Amino acid sequence: MSSTAGDGDRNHLLLDKMDLKGKNIVITGASSGIGEHIALTLAKEGCNLALLARTKSKLDQIAEKCRSSSSQIKIHVLQCDMSEKLSVDETCKQIGSLFNNEVHVLINNAGIMGEQISSMEEKTKGDGEKDVVDMWEEVMMVNLVNLMRITNRCLQFMKKIEHGAAIITISSVAATMTGSNLSHYHASKWGVNGFLGSIYEDVRQYGIKVCSIMPGMVNTPMLGDFMNKVHVEKCIQPDDIAQGILYVLKTPYNIDNVLIKYSFKRQPVCYTILNNIMSGYTKQFVENKIKQRQIMMFSKSKDPDCIRAKQIIEQYQLPEGSYECLDIEKRQDCRQMENYFQILCLTDRRKVPYFFFNGLYFGSLFELNICHQNGSLKQLVLDTCAS
Ligand SMILES: NC(=O)c1ccc[n+]([C@@H]2O[C@H](COP(=O)([O-])OP(=O)(O)OC[C@H]3O[C@@H](n4cnc5c(N)ncnc54)[C@H](OP(=O)(O)O)[C@@H]3O)[C@@H](O)[C@H]2O)c1
Repeated sequence: MSSTAGDGDRNHLLLDKMDLKGKNIVITGASSGIGEHIALTLAKEGCNLALLARTKSKLDQIAEKCRSSSSQIKIHVLQCDMSEKLSVDETCKQIGSLFNNEVHVLINNAGIMGEQISSMEEKTKGDGEKDVVDMWEEVMMVNLVNLMRITNRCLQFMKKIEHGAAIITISSVAATMTGSNLSHYHASKWGVNGFLGSIYEDVRQYGIKVCSIMPGMVNTPMLGDFMNKVHVEKCIQPDDIAQGILYVLKTPYNIDNVLIKYSFKRQPVCYTILNNIMSGYTKQFVENKIKQRQIMMFSKSKDPDCIRAKQIIEQYQLPEGSYECLDIEKRQDCRQMENYFQILCLTDRRKVPYFFFNGLYFGSLFELNICHQNGSLKQLVLDTCAS
């Protein structure tokens, strides 16, 4: 196909990554856990930050650490109570004047879990007994209603920005399932995803990315009593989430991270859902496994594509110890692994099997089948195992 002026423009678009230096970024819930790590990571990238939370003393400490990454950046501490409409509106006005009405990225991270209690109960059991419905309402105000408020206010500050603005939200895997004793938390996170998916339809024409990150358990103070029940070192770490955010922000705005679709119009198509973002532990496991065998297949034992792929690869002469087929569904972190593969292989939600030849991603059933049918797989296997 001959190249046209239009093609040149497209190539430019595909390379048009977001340079984070000097961007104005608002982070809610920046005084602890995930928010703190996001702040420190983005400060290292040279971003100006507005750090929001209720506890000013903690924000001040984090702001100081951020400032030590660069003398060029501006770090603002804004005390804000996300359960209070007036506090959120007042903070948004301050953001507007501090950032000259220009916000590039809003990171909706503040959130609370509320008390774990059956919806059959009328009163909470924790300190300062409350009406259960009042506790639910507080969770909805912080996690959903005022998230919607600050999102709307910050969108006004994004209109001027031609490309590369983003709304990134820390939702939760709770948005994909139901769970006893936490109906309020699940309801709030389902609401968040419904809101994000819908605003995406409105804002894409302005070049604004929308991303919902949906982690499982993250090693932060929010885990509370769970800390004693789980191996926290095997949980997702807050820095894994911060790295996920960098991944989203640095991906060209016209690539949809889920479908890896390219939009050739000057229109973004980035509605990202990073499901169960990977933990460092999962990453390490996968990377070690890939290095152990010359041909590594990650599979699910009952998946028809995997069964077919296994039949194909095992027809070839594979020297002992050079090949392994690992069934990922037998692992506790199966969903995290799947997500990790999607990032590692930049797959378009391509499902298992995943093949790695000599440590490099080879492909899925589709690629294997092509090589099998055109007769090139035999030589490929021989070369891989000989190296
Ligand atoms: N940890 C997990 O396992 C996990 C899993 C999936 C999703 N998430 C989500 O990740 C986000 C961050 O949680 P985290 O794990 O980092 O918890 P965290 O360490 O408890 O941090 C929560 C943050 O939210 C802020 N916050 C709470 N209530 C607020 C209010 N009324 N107004 C303003 N800020 C408020 C807190 O600051 P102040 O107390 O100073 O106000 C703090 O900075 C939440 O949305 C959570 O739902 C967490």
